[in-house]
Amino acid sequence: MAGRIPKQFIDELISRADIVDLIGTRIQLKKAGREYKACCPFHDEKTPSFTVSQSKQFYHCFGCNAHGTALGFIMEYDRLDFVEAVETLAASMNMEVPRESGPAAARKDESLYPLLAAAENFFRERLKEDKPAIAYLKERGLSGETAARFGIGYAADAWDELLKELGGDTQARKRMILAGLVIEKDKSKVYDRFRDRIMFPIRDSRGRCIGFGGRVLDHGEPKYLNSPETPLFHKGSELYGLYEARQLNRELTRLIVVEGYMDVVGLAQHGITNAVATLGTATTAAHLRRLFQATHQIVFCFDGDKAGRAAAWRALENALPQTGGGHQLRFLFLPEGQDPDSMVREQGADAFEAALARAETLSEYLIRHLSEQVDMNELEGKARFAELARPLVRQVPSGAFRELLAREIAELAGAGSRMARQLAEDESRPKRAPQRRRSSGRGDLVRQTVATLLRYPTVAAHAGDTAWLMEMDGEGCRILALLLEDAVKSPNITTAMLLERHRDDEQHAALMKLAASESLVSEEEAIAEFQDALSILSRQSASTRLDTLLDNARRSELSADEKTELTDLLARQQASDVASGHGKQRPGDQET
Ligand code: UTP
Ligand code: MN
Repeated sequence: MAGRIPKQFIDELISRADIVDLIGTRIQLKKAGREYKACCPFHDEKTPSFTVSQSKQFYHCFGCNAHGTALGFIMEYDRLDFVEAVETLAASMNMEVPRESGPAAARKDESLYPLLAAAENFFRERLKEDKPAIAYLKERGLSGETAARFGIGYAADAWDELLKELGGDTQARKRMILAGLVIEKDKSKVYDRFRDRIMFPIRDSRGRCIGFGGRVLDHGEPKYLNSPETPLFHKGSELYGLYEARQLNRELTRLIVVEGYMDVVGLAQHGITNAVATLGTATTAAHLRRLFQATHQIVFCFDGDKAGRAAAWRALENALPQTGGGHQLRFLFLPEGQDPDSMVREQGADAFEAALARAETLSEYLIRHLSEQVDMNELEGKARFAELARPLVRQVPSGAFRELLAREIAELAGAGSRMARQLAEDESRPKRAPQRRRSSGRGDLVRQTVATLLRYPTVAAHAGDTAWLMEMDGEGCRILALLLEDAVKSPNITTAMLLERHRDDEQHAALMKLAASESLVSEEEAIAEFQDALSILSRQSASTRLDTLLDNARRSELSADEKTELTDLLARQQASDVASGHGKQRPGDQET
């Protein structure tokens, strides 16, 4: 792949793009006051609740709560990843995407793509000459057309066919090693990695071959040999068949996740062209993110054996943090001894589709799996059931799905709404932690201030000196300081630009939510609110610092500088107490 896209370019792209134009080319927008409206493209509705704000360069649906920037819209609507969305948006404005050169770019050697493409071609041509390999594929029920669609080929039963074809000189051989096509042993000995195997090319999202899976023709070991990790190929995040599924379907309403290459290809042979496979690994969070970028409904369909059932539970565990919000997950369990390929061959596509339609939902599977481990007829069993469910429920993002799941589990355990609430409660945020109580309200105030700044970035010009903000504890203050710095440096910055600059931040999703939250205040009121909030926070910061200095003073540990600072702070505090008319209580001291 090419180098990283420079941050300044994203900034420029977002500042030049107009979200109204962009969305307007994809769905019909109607002007309504200062904003634009439409029926939401992300959920079914009859009356429009999807709004696009030109000033914020941000969209928000009040119905399904979808929201984001121009780039976010392209990612969601066109089902693209971030880099692809940047390329699409840039292309629509005739801008060229620059790439940073540097070590990272050099490592992702571009020349490996044509090399892998050449290998794929060689294997495909080689298949045409090999009767036993063709017979094997025929015997497994594959037509020539299906084989061609997936670019299936054959690696001969020899040590150096590919090496001779593509490894002309030392340089070329080095690249073949890097691409995982040949193996180097003891420096001087180099030989083909794949021998006497049916070859399945694995493609990236743009259809470029990045690696292979190779199946033995007979009963040799290992049954499947995959490319090793290379600069282009990462087993834990790739999905076999995703590119082909996108090619073969105008719209992907659903993706089926299966275990094997042959399951993907076998299903396609029977007209079920929306299956993908992980490459012999568990379904990771990275897989799920890619899947949910491509579709909203995933059906896991693993083999009907012990390994398949274990894989399904692993998939459920990894999927929990990505549930809710319109994402649907289902689980289909095949009869013992069957895999999707054998089932579709024996019973046909209709039977398989019917089984898919009956697949369990994630919550049904979760509840069934847990209740099978206890005796639900006993009080003890029900209690254990609830205990087993608790850590799982807590991984579900807060929202309607988590609430409903918790309620269902509590009901099955024979407990009331109190338990439902406890199940759904976030452990990471204890409501009554002592530290939280002391600084009561500060988190909200910081959040409010961040929200104001995101909605009206121009308020930053009224911030004054905010060096103290950097020294305050807490995630909220850190992000507020960063946003403020951005907004002060770039007076024309928009909501969308601020959000894009922090796309990689852990708080990005939280920032998006704040930007989407409704505000009833005007820009003038926002400035006043913002200044008030900063002055409260600044006083809190001064008061904390004062406490520390006073503490140190008591232990006579003050340097000369600190003494000056203490005197200053005390004077400032007195002045502000007099000005605001309360002499006794310091802000932040409301309770102890
Ligand atoms: P299976 O053993 O279930 O094979 O492996 P399968 O898909 O049914 O294949 P056929 O029908 O016998 O041809 C499922 C997946 O696990 C990985 C491969 O990705 C395979 O598609 N695997 C399996 C390996 O990587 N290596 C192996 O030796 C076996
Ligand atoms: Mn199989």
